[in-house]
Amino acid sequence: MSTDKIILGIETSCDETAAAVTINGVLRSAITSTQQIHSMYGGVVPELASRVHQQNIVPVADEALKLAKIGLRDLDAVAVTIGPGLMGSLLVGVSFAKGFGLAINKPVIPVNHMQAHIYSLFIRKKDEETKTVPSFPFLCMNISGGHTQIVKVNSFSDMELLGQTLDDAAGEAFDKAAKILGLPYPGGPAIDRLAAAGNPGIFTFPKPVIPDYDFSFSGLKTAVLYFIRDRTLADPDFITNNINDICASVQHVIVGILLNKLSKAISDTKISTVGIAGGVAANSYFRKMTAQLAEKNHIRLFYPDLEFCTDNAAMVATAGYHLLPDEINLNNNITAKSRMHIAER
Ligand code: KG4
Ligand code: ZN
Repeated sequence: MSTDKIILGIETSCDETAAAVTINGVLRSAITSTQQIHSMYGGVVPELASRVHQQNIVPVADEALKLAKIGLRDLDAVAVTIGPGLMGSLLVGVSFAKGFGLAINKPVIPVNHMQAHIYSLFIRKKDEETKTVPSFPFLCMNISGGHTQIVKVNSFSDMELLGQTLDDAAGEAFDKAAKILGLPYPGGPAIDRLAAAGNPGIFTFPKPVIPDYDFSFSGLKTAVLYFIRDRTLADPDFITNNINDICASVQHVIVGILLNKLSKAISDTKISTVGIAGGVAANSYFRKMTAQLAEKNHIRLFYPDLEFCTDNAAMVATAGYHLLPDEINLNNNITAKSRMHIAER
């Protein structure tokens, strides 16, 4: 009998239906089906998301297994995102994984989605078996569409929340600013692209004063809304004529807020290994600025590959591999949870 540990990971917490296979922690396949239907609504419509997951989950999982050349009986476990996320979307993945686990008589490993983003720093592809990964303890800035948090990662199963957003998440700030500017959802990639040709110092927006390691982004959204309203009253073509500079300036404030808190956490904790994860970790300006910060402060900085910043199942299968030893006796008594603390399993 093979001693390989083979995991199927399933992710359906928001609008990506994804499945991936790892063998001994090395990624063999990763399929992500991004739901296009939401872009015309300017944001994710939960009811539509669950319906599309329902249609996609079987073909996506099937494709991931075929690509990895793995048969059902080869699997050791199914790892699945149980939360936080949209309840209807989570239920599709969780129900699928539980049924699947029951059918092949293998354990189902529940995975916290925000922990999974942190595990994305540990994804290794076939030719990356010797890739360097963060050593414990490290600080991880987890920046997605729903969360913004600084986490002290003591081990794969011990994570401490140092601070988080009090209102909107960083990704949400990108998405809401993009919506005000008439850009498509998700707004982060569009702002990133347009900002590349803009000057970040042209327009200024206020930064909130929030204690400790917490964040706030809702004031920025309101500031952008009033700024655009006032400027377009004076010049109806203001957005079109200044789109690059507006995007660069908005991006500069969001990145500045994130960087201030990250530097504070690094200097207070004196932890010199830092990871960045979540959709906003794909932002090119943020990557550039954090690389500068790391160089100045002798920080070992880790990012996931661009394709594993936004939601994917490779991070869930990787989490499953690292959590498997603890979970081998687990039964199928698992439920989806729309809200979960980073330390929760
Ligand atoms: O991690 P993720 O895929 O989903 C959640 O768990 O929320 O993150 C999605 C978020 C969206 O808000 C999207 O606009 C943002 O990540 N995002 C970006 C970039 N790529 C994705 N934000 C800024 N720059 C990017 N390049
Ligand atoms: Zn996510």
